[in-house]
Amino acid sequence: MENMTRKKSNVSRRSFIQGLAVGGAGLATVNLVGAQTLAAPTPEEKPAELKIGMIGIGGQGRTLMMNCTKIPGIRIVAACDLWPRKKDWAGKALKKFKHNANTYVDYRELLEKEKGLDAVLIATPDFLHEPMTTAALEAGIHVYCEKEMSNTLEGCRKMVASQRKTGKLLQIGHQRRSNPRYLLADKIINKDKYLGRVTHINGQWNRCKPPFETWPKGTEIDQKVLEEFGYVNMEQFRNWRWFRKYGGGLMADLGSHQIDIFSWFLRANPKSVIASGGVDYYDDKREFPDNVMSIYEYDTPQGVSRAFYQVLSTTSFDSYREKFMGTNGTLILSEDPKVGFMFKEPDAPRLAWEEEAEQVDTMGAKAIELKIGQSRQSKDQKTESMGGDAAKKKPHQWHLENFFNAIRDPEKVKLTCPPEVAYETAVSVLKVEKALETNSKVTFSPDEFKV
Ligand SMILES: NC(=O)c1ccc[n+]([C@@H]2O[C@H](COP(=O)([O-])OP(=O)(O)OC[C@H]3O[C@@H](n4cnc5c(N)ncnc54)[C@H](O)[C@@H]3O)[C@@H](O)[C@H]2O)c1
Repeated sequence: MENMTRKKSNVSRRSFIQGLAVGGAGLATVNLVGAQTLAAPTPEEKPAELKIGMIGIGGQGRTLMMNCTKIPGIRIVAACDLWPRKKDWAGKALKKFKHNANTYVDYRELLEKEKGLDAVLIATPDFLHEPMTTAALEAGIHVYCEKEMSNTLEGCRKMVASQRKTGKLLQIGHQRRSNPRYLLADKIINKDKYLGRVTHINGQWNRCKPPFETWPKGTEIDQKVLEEFGYVNMEQFRNWRWFRKYGGGLMADLGSHQIDIFSWFLRANPKSVIASGGVDYYDDKREFPDNVMSIYEYDTPQGVSRAFYQVLSTTSFDSYREKFMGTNGTLILSEDPKVGFMFKEPDAPRLAWEEEAEQVDTMGAKAIELKIGQSRQSKDQKTESMGGDAAKKKPHQWHLENFFNAIRDPEKVKLTCPPEVAYETAVSVLKVEKALETNSKVTFSPDEFKV
């Protein structure tokens, strides 16, 4: 994003969210983050304790675990990782946070021995999501399972079926669905309609990854154990995301987060996709493209919209963001809280709260900055706060809290990403492979999204 300077103009000191309140729209995120989605217990309230097991403690499992240590009422009592290195690390790290957890290498043993678990969090390679989720649900345990739901649609369907059969909760880890910034953006686009009609979306994730991951000498998992859990060898175990047997490629790994948002904000699933990509740079054994560019078409309630999406593993510049382009304005958004700007078209209707909103000069234009979780002191109002701690929370914490609070109070708190929602995203994402293989436009029928 060129010229991403954030020079404040003198227009006003008030934040965008405060501006929304001035416009009579109400403190949007307070409502949006209220009872329906998060209903987080106040610090004075003592939330009922939930006993949690962790399965898979690599990069993402570690993130979920650290987030959990910040959530009141969560006690991690068990942690499992097939790689003893990670399992031992988890046990030690949890001790430091006063969670004395039993550790396991075999998730089946964890499920068998840990009686009284309320939930497990699963952050293993995608191909294991279905068997692990099904086993946990059938053991009577609620599940938070990472995205992509599975690397096959058959796996996704089995997960939906297991959830329906057992009646336990299943949250899928598309965490933007619980993020107050995304909930506010949805309100701006779909309720307040500040952007007019959204005709185009531009999304990207540029992340330069080093060539294959390795492992310290002497830490190899026994070949028999690897095979028992479905891996060909240590190299594939460490680099599962690049192999079809275990993962879904860059579009599932990174793209699924954002393609999920496209459908959510457009209130429509795609009707077609074209894509181009290949293993063009890395000279190793990877099976999935190292770069993909795609165009989705949607029939939205307002008419046709197109979304361009790119995911590159060869460059990191400009990282990850989504740009929603409407006839009255454009909203640039990212999970990175530094990126949230709304640009108005010059002839767009004046917004009632516009002059009150804080504006910044960025990308060669004036933008209204999207801010959440900022507490401000002003003369006329003592404290302006969007939930106060919103800015401090990491993106995954909201989604975990939505899950935990839904377990505690299922009547009041509904999951923001139940399996049916994640299934639709998996259909949108996994079909790109067909477009890449056939080098042609692939269409979706509405029935494909039903499960
Ligand atoms: N929501 C997000 O923002 C986000 C971010 C990154 C990854 N993810 C998802 O999280 C999952 C894990 O990704 P990652 O980046 O942490 O990968 P990773 O390779 O860093 O971690 C995977 C972990 O699972 C362990 N594992 C593998 N097989 C196992 C088994 N049979 N039993 C127990 N443990 C096993 C591995 O030893 C490793 O520690 C993937 O589904 C990925 O798509 C989500």
